[in-house]
Order: sequence, then structure tokens, then C-alpha cells
Amino acid sequence: MRLTVFGLGYLGLTHAVCMAELGHEVLGVEVDEAKVARLQAGDVPFYEPGLADLLTKHLDTGLLVISTSYRQAAEWGDVFFIAVGTPQKKGESAADLRYVEAVVDNLAPLVDRDVLVLGKSTVPVGTCAKLVERVRARSQGADIEIAWNPEFLREGFAIEDTLQPDRIVLGRRPSGRAEALTRELYADILRHDTPFILTDPETAELVKVSANAFLATKISFINAIAEVCEAVGADVRAVADAIGYDARIGRRYLNAGIGFGGGCLPKDIRAFMARAGELGASEALTFLREVDNVNMRRRTRMVDVVRGACHGSLLGVNVGILGAAFKPDSDDVRDSPALNVAGQLQLQGASVTVYDPKAIENSKAIFPTLSYAASADDACENADVVMVLTEWPEFVRIDPDDLSALVRTKTIVDGRLCLDRQRWSGCGWTYLT
Ligand SMILES: NC(=O)c1ccc[n+]([C@@H]2O[C@H](COP(=O)([O-])OP(=O)(O)OC[C@H]3O[C@@H](n4cnc5c(N)ncnc54)[C@H](O)[C@@H]3O)[C@@H](O)[C@H]2O)c1
Repeated sequence: MRLTVFGLGYLGLTHAVCMAELGHEVLGVEVDEAKVARLQAGDVPFYEPGLADLLTKHLDTGLLVISTSYRQAAEWGDVFFIAVGTPQKKGESAADLRYVEAVVDNLAPLVDRDVLVLGKSTVPVGTCAKLVERVRARSQGADIEIAWNPEFLREGFAIEDTLQPDRIVLGRRPSGRAEALTRELYADILRHDTPFILTDPETAELVKVSANAFLATKISFINAIAEVCEAVGADVRAVADAIGYDARIGRRYLNAGIGFGGGCLPKDIRAFMARAGELGASEALTFLREVDNVNMRRRTRMVDVVRGACHGSLLGVNVGILGAAFKPDSDDVRDSPALNVAGQLQLQGASVTVYDPKAIENSKAIFPTLSYAASADDACENADVVMVLTEWPEFVRIDPDDLSALVRTKTIVDGRLCLDRQRWSGCGWTYLT
């Protein structure tokens, strides 16, 4: 099939490349000209394992073409994916839909035949229905069907999650062609008995935001339990292990630590609350405010732990921070808990040096005033406190004895509960969480 993907960020580029891998002819359309130039040269502007190889492969096979042109897009094929960003509005909790709206506003007047638009971006419930109205007002007589096909990929596993998803969800009106076309375009995936959930657009939109609200709640749940554990000297890791064996609960997403961040969970739970409010159902989601509060409290608490370790003052204290990305195997620093903590420590007088294997460039762009190191060792040199704030495998593997020779004081703060407490303590380190 000939497909178009609008927006070539973490979601859209992965989707475009994976659709080419499935054998489709794909046109990726992106408004950022600098990004387009890099992509056309086979250079992925962010870190996602395996993506650069697959991009180069399909630029070479010719199955993937990258462009800035909506006119070319309108002529290209019959299925159009919306994969642009839906960030939080400035000064508000709601989602900013201007990029999603721009896609249909630009496309609709150019299309001269019946086509299908599949939304992949995460949007507030009711967005698809509003876009249908927008398109109707702008189209030149073509039948432009819009359906929602939300995306569940995890950064770090984006290719695997796109080609072998846990499920495919399609929200459409039964009268259209969306089901037939979607079954055709994902035929290779559906052949492997992947669950296909066929529903209406409102339900599909809600599936995605509900999934993210649930995951955020699970993380904040264990972090709330961590607060109680800290008050009584109990071990939250053991609590998580023990309750995680219950199949109804499950161990994943039960790691206590500095909490969630990134370009999805924080903005998605806020947009969900805002939308529930507009629908007169705000009470239903008031618990998400507490989920958000618990999460943000973890960051402040982490700063308190460091200040406590430094006898109440951060002035003149050297802090080496290992990790800036919101999770390992990603260079995404959007709403990064690690950078938030780094910034707070610096504002309170500490001298902070950050190292991350992939996210330094992105971190510099949003936090230019922090110091950045080229290696974990450099970041820890003369440190009074070392903090692990992203659980990259290279940090988990650090030998405490090797690090001892570099630091001024052997204090380690394990912000992700990913280190072996006994090993670090056994090597003479003060181990804090
Ligand atoms: N990142 C993830 O892991 C992930 C997972 C599931 C869902 N999502 C959702 O997918 C959407 C995109 O997220 P992302 O992380 O890829 O965002 P992103 O910011 O990395 O990418 C968005 C891209 O769209 C481009 N763009 C903006 N307006 C455009 C337009 N009118 N036409 C063409 N391109 C345009 C931007 O320049 C940018 O490159 C969001 O709704 C997000 O919530 C993201």
C-alpha cells in the first residue's frame, strides 16, 4: 500500500520506517526542514535502538521517501497517519491540538479522492469527531474518512513494539472503509494472532489515555508506599517484589524511585483530567491529581536526601549525576526527573555535573547552565554525592571500588533503586535512596 505519515518524531519516524519494513511504500512528511535534511541523509535526530539502520535500509530500498510537501502527500496514497505532537498547552493542563489540526487543515483542501486518515497521536476523547467537522468544512468534495489507531510503543523498544504490538486498536464508524484498509495494512502483524480491537473513535481515544493513566498510577502507587516505608524503615523493594508475584498485580511498573517523566505520561494524565472536567466528569479523575503530586514530590524529596547527606546545606557541594534521559535506551529529556533534580540542586548552590550516554545534547538544549561530562568517571570526579537518576545498564554495572578513588566523599544516592545496596555499603559507601 502507499501510506503517508505526518510528523517524523519518536512516534512518526518509527511508524514510517516500520511500515516500510512491512513492505509498504511510505512518504514521511515533516515540517521541520532541518530534521528532513538529516533524515534524508539517513541520520536519526534522536536515539532509538535499531532505528538508524532501518531508516538507511528503507531509504536505500526506496520504500521510504521523506519530504516537507503536503502537495506530494496528497497525491501519494490512500492512507494518511497523523503522528504529530500533542504537548501540554502553555499555562494549562489541556493538550495543545494545534499540530493535529494543522495536518488536516493543510491536507483536506489538496485531496481530490476518497481517502482514510488514521490518527496515531494521543488525543483527548472527542478529537476525532471534531476533526471530522473540520475536514468537512475544508475538503473539496472528496470523502475524507477519519479513524483513530492509537500507538502504544515504548521508547527504547519502539521498533519491536510497532512490528509486534500487544494489540491493535481501531476506533472507526462502521459505515466507512477504515476496518478493511487497516486490516490490509497491518495484515502481516494480524497474521500472528495479534488482538485487534475494533471500536468507535471515542473508545479508541480513551483506551490510550486510560493505559497511560493506569501506568502513571501504578508508579505513583509504589512511590506512595515508598513514603510510608521510609517513615517506618521498611523495604519498598521487598514490598514490590512480594506483591508483584500476585498475577493480578504484576511486578512491572512497580519500581519505586524518582518517578515518571518523558513526553507522554505527565502531559497525558493532565490532559485527561482537563478533558474530564470539560465533560463534567472531573470528579472521576481527581485521583490523578494525587498521582501527579506523589510523582512531583519524589523529585523534591531527592533534593532533600542530598541536602540531608550534606549536613543541611548544598552550598559548595559537588554532585555527580549519572543519567539525564527520562528512561534508559532513550535520549528523551522531556520532563526528565533527573534534569529537574539537577536543576533544583544547582539553584540551591550545588555544583552539578551530569553525564548520560545518549542525552547530553538534548539536555544542554534545555538546561545549558548545568555542567556536562563526557563519561561517568568525569562526572563523579571530586563529587561529595553521586546520584544514579536513570537506570542505564552502564551505571548499574559500576564497580563501587573503582569509583571510590575518584570521589571526595563516598555517598551514593540510588534514585532508581537499581543498585546493589549491600555491595555499595560493603565497599564503604553511604547508600541512600
Ligand atoms: N514518544 C512516544 O513514545 C509516544 C508513544 C505513544 C504515543 N505518542 C504520541 O505520539 C504523538 C507524537 O509524539 P512524539 O514523541 O513522536 O513527538 P515529537 O515531538 O517527537 O514529534 C512530532 C513531530 O511532528 C512534527 N510536526 C509538527 N507539526 C507538523 C505538521 N503540521 N506536519 C508534519 N509534521 C509536523 C514536528 O516537527 C515533530 O518532528 C504524541 O501525541 C504522543 O503523545 C508518543
